[in-house]
Order: sequence, then structure tokens, then C-alpha cells
Amino acid sequence: MRKDLVSVLALYPTPLVLVGAITPNWVLAGHVGIMGHDHIMVSLSQTHYTNRGIRAHGMLSVHMVEEDLFKKADLAGCVSGAKVDKSTLFPYSVTQEGVPVIDQSRLTMVCAVERNDPTPGFDNFILKILHTYADEAILTPNGRIDYDSFKPVLFEMPGYTYLRTGETIAKCMSLNAK
Ligand SMILES: Cc1cc2nc3c(=O)[nH]c(=O)nc-3n(C[C@H](O)[C@H](O)[C@H](O)COP(=O)(O)O)c2cc1C
Repeated sequence: MRKDLVSVLALYPTPLVLVGAITPNWVLAGHVGIMGHDHIMVSLSQTHYTNRGIRAHGMLSVHMVEEDLFKKADLAGCVSGAKVDKSTLFPYSVTQEGVPVIDQSRLTMVCAVERNDPTPGFDNFILKILHTYADEAILTPNGRIDYDSFKPVLFEMPGYTYLRTGETIAKCMSLNAK
């Protein structure tokens, strides 16, 4: 029997990301989305300290989180930069745009804020991807990101847990090939 949960958000799991804002400050987010082929969206509570840096500078970094990063990533999601200095949580470099990028991250996008499309209580930053920095170790010989090597941690809100990325089960559009 199907139960109507009314308007429960059910689009999980999502990739877990660490957002880096200028000064720097790091925040953990699971509410992210893909828009077309060159834009992404990050939804951040307007109460967060990070949003101030994003609004002021219009630039940020988005790091996909693997298991080696996620203990510290979890901390970035537990404490606010308004109370604790999170700038030393990760060794980082600064890009030509002045955006902090975590050295240990194997997959990072540096983005410019194109606009903010707020919903009650949230800034929904629509981001144009300027650069995607990938560790060569996660690339196939033809330069694509290899998700057999790269294993992002996933997030689900209802149980508030982290999940492991699974195995490749098939090539897309191959299942009905004759
Ligand atoms: C697993 C996890 C996922 C989170 N996802 C989001 C999110 O998508 N959007 C959001 O606004 N806050 C999210 N948070 C909460 C922020 O990361 C957290 O409140 C953080 O301390 C805010 O830091 P700031 O004040 O320095 O910006 C998440 C926290 C955790 C632990």
C-alpha cells in the first residue's frame, strides 16, 4: 500500500560537498544540484556564516568529499565560522580568483555566483563552473573522471547518515541493446 508522505523531500542520496568561501571558511552541504551542463546549485541556510563570504565575493569552491576527508568535513558541518575559526581545518591553496581550494581534495570546482534564487530561509546559489580541478589519479586515459576510482561520500537527510558510493552495475543505454 502506497502512503502519501505529503511534501517530504525525497531526492536523496546526494553527493556530499565541502564549500569553500573567501575568507576562508568551510561549510558542509548535501543540498546541491545540477543545472544544465555548466551550472550547479548549492542551497545554504541564510543563518550560515559562509553565506556572508559568498555574497560579498561572489566566488566559491565546491569539493566532492571522499572518505579520507569526511571526518574533518563532518566537523565543518557541526560548527559555525561565526564562533570557531575553521580556516585552518584543511591545508589549502588560493586560486587566481582568490578562492580557497583544499589541497587534499581530488575533485574540486571553482565557481562564480551567477545569481541567488532564495527560498524561505535559504540562499540558493546558482553557480557557473569556472574550473574543475581533478587529481590525475582519478582520470581515465582519455581524461574523464573515473567513478571506479573516485568514490564520493553520499548524504541522506531523513536518517542523517553518510553512504558509500556503490559499484558500477551497467553502462548507460546498454541494457536493451540487441
Ligand atoms: C551532513 C551535513 C550536511 C549538511 N548540509 C547542509 C546543506 O545542504 N545546507 C545547509 O544550509 N547546511 C547544511 N549543513 C549544516 C552546515 O554545514 C552547518 O550548520 C555549518 O556549521 C554552518 O557553518 P557556517 O556557519 O560556518 O557557515 C549540513 C551539515 C551536515 C552535518
